[in-house]
Amino acid sequence: GKVAVMFGGTSAERDVSLNSGRAVLDGLLNKGVDAHPFDPAKQPLSELTEQNFDRVFIVLHGRGGEDGTLQGALEHMNIPYTGSGVLGCALAMDKVRTKLLWKGLGVATADFEVVNEEDYQPAECDQMMVNLGGKVMVKPANEGSSIGMAIANSGDELKAAIENALKFDDQVLIEKWIDGPEYTVAIIGDRALPAIEMQTDNSFYDYQAKYQSTETRYLCPCGLPEADELALQQLALKAFKSVHAKGWGRVDVMRDAQGNWQVLEVNTVPGMTQTSLVPKAARAVGIEFDELVLSLLEQTVG
Ligand code: DAL
Ligand code: MG
Repeated sequence: GKVAVMFGGTSAERDVSLNSGRAVLDGLLNKGVDAHPFDPAKQPLSELTEQNFDRVFIVLHGRGGEDGTLQGALEHMNIPYTGSGVLGCALAMDKVRTKLLWKGLGVATADFEVVNEEDYQPAECDQMMVNLGGKVMVKPANEGSSIGMAIANSGDELKAAIENALKFDDQVLIEKWIDGPEYTVAIIGDRALPAIEMQTDNSFYDYQAKYQSTETRYLCPCGLPEADELALQQLALKAFKSVHAKGWGRVDVMRDAQGNWQVLEVNTVPGMTQTSLVPKAARAVGIEFDELVLSLLEQTVG
């Protein structure tokens, strides 16, 4: 059937999505799939039915594509799509709800505070810094690609970081700093792929380190002892399933100075350029890019 590859969109991660989507489109075309680009920022969803699309491959990052809203519209239109459903996407997009769930389930995740725009009290920043050990990572609750994130080492820095993050979202997550390396685990179906360690000389794995730097190092195999990597993969699968994510995705995890894993988040539509993390992990188990995108498409039923 005819496949709409949805990419672009209106989120702050539009540029990332344009790169991911073009790569996915090319991969599907290479495999002989009747695939067409579809940008919901420019085309109404009614064109899906008007132009007789049978399925949608979602390569939209962030709000409006990775947060359950598009998934809900497609459910309503009875059009099958790749990846997680409404609940999985909505939950995974919201880092605060995700972490509240993980605290309840005992999935290890760093301690945190939450600021809502309507009741934000700048005077509470000093106390939050004390509560969280003096160094924190500030994140808009619903963003991706490290957009709007900043490290804070004092109450004043926290105030500035919160005010900046509030430009991107009305809810801000303030996480205790995790002093240690960052890993990511790609999930395909029910399978966790080999972990990748990301190494950067930046103060954290930020937008520049993710998309612009040629200095960022990606280790796969990541060099962990086998038992540790297995534990990391199992934790990632548990975190993925706990938010009701489905089909494919990527779980980001750090290891703190005590050697404990701390899960950061689940991405239900992770970056998908040829050099993105999920394709890197797939290649490590012998799955080439075009094969990978075809297998993700084939997960859609209908
Ligand atoms: N949010 C970006 C696209 C990622 O997780 O890869
Ligand atoms: Mg993300």
